[in-house]
Amino acid sequence: MAQVLTNTLEHQWIPFTVNRQFKEEPRLMAKAEGMYYWNHRGDKIIDAASGMFCCAAGHGRKEIAEAVHTQLMEMDYATSFNLGHPIAFEFASRVAALTPGELNRVFFANSGSEAVDTAMKIALAYSSAKGEGQRVRFVSRERAYHGVNFGGTALSGLVKNRDVYGTGLPGVVHMRHTHLPEHKYIKGQPETGAEMAEDLLRFVQLYGGDTIAACFVEPVAGSTGWLVPPKGYLNRLREICDDHNILLVFDEVICGFGRTGKAFAAQTFDVTPDMITMAKALTNGAQPMSAIAVRDEIYETVVNAAPENAIELFHGYTYSAHPAACAAGIASLDIYRDDQLFERGEEMSPYFMDSMIDLQDIPIVDNIRAQGMMAGIDLAPDVRPGLRGFDAQVKLFDAGLHLKATGDCALVAPALIAEKGHIDEISGVLREVLETY
Ligand SMILES: Cc1ncc(COP(=O)(O)O)c(C=O)c1O
Repeated sequence: MAQVLTNTLEHQWIPFTVNRQFKEEPRLMAKAEGMYYWNHRGDKIIDAASGMFCCAAGHGRKEIAEAVHTQLMEMDYATSFNLGHPIAFEFASRVAALTPGELNRVFFANSGSEAVDTAMKIALAYSSAKGEGQRVRFVSRERAYHGVNFGGTALSGLVKNRDVYGTGLPGVVHMRHTHLPEHKYIKGQPETGAEMAEDLLRFVQLYGGDTIAACFVEPVAGSTGWLVPPKGYLNRLREICDDHNILLVFDEVICGFGRTGKAFAAQTFDVTPDMITMAKALTNGAQPMSAIAVRDEIYETVVNAAPENAIELFHGYTYSAHPAACAAGIASLDIYRDDQLFERGEEMSPYFMDSMIDLQDIPIVDNIRAQGMMAGIDLAPDVRPGLRGFDAQVKLFDAGLHLKATGDCALVAPALIAEKGHIDEISGVLREVLETY
């Protein structure tokens, strides 16, 4: 088996991976069900990351597989350019029913990165439709992750994701991140740090509020380590955006679909943005898909600005609203509703958060932040940033636990179906491995 693997591994250039090490010691997943994976050797591995924050309802949901199968047998593909298929409209209305406020118009794409770039284009198209063509700047934040396309890379606040890709898009400025030294071992929202939102006001004063199209934030900064917004922070961003007609975009690619306690973090923190980008758990990870939910008035302004019989937004993907992805999405939303998974996650989160914060006595653990059904565990760095996180991820995997490490932060996000026993198993393996350092 090892020989076969070595022979067949050379052709794939693996994304966001230490390719040389991986090909020496591959970690291959072969099967998944419920809260578990099995690797190619048959070892059982608890999934402490919902795949990569995708599989909120756990793995191997037959309802989703059957819905995709049925759809593919009935009609495998049809374009959404000047054509349509009923299931896409049904899915859009199901998504709109979950989003807050007037975010009732839904544009489909295929990944979180595409959702972010699409939202940037919609913001620019909206500026233009309002006769405000000078509104072309974007505000983002340090430590932000908004995917890997060129728009999202420009918004990104993570140096390794930017540094070899040239100067990127012009006109993007970054607010400070919200993590403060006193934010140690916190469950839920920190009490301090709301004043970081004033950075947006400083950009308004420096560049002119009427030159800024949109402010993008992850309501909880996910990939960088689950930085929960300080109390009042998102509300203040909303106020400043309102005062200067800047669109507020929540990138909920990780936060969406129950991760923070409600369907969207916008509802958890009671702040309604103008657009929400979503992906991952949109289809429970079973099909690649993303969506951008847009406030009615934005849609209407863009659409009504175009001449009759003219395309209003020159944007879209071959696989926008792919029928099989829509089928997977509807089946996922059915499960979330019927199994009351968002409520279940919210009920389980105090137990989960306590279990994570209890790991604070382990010497290698530097900090832990927990909110909803997700936690970021900072590990004391080794000689080079990221080395310890990578080493821990590999050791945890060998000990039977899958999580996602970003730099030296271990991200834990079990599926919303997790029982207390699963959470105990996750914290048990974490303790066992992290105590070896
Ligand atoms: C907040 C956020 N935006 C965008 C993305 C990019 O999504 P994708 O990897 O599907 O392109 C991610 C991925 O983790 C994310 O966390």
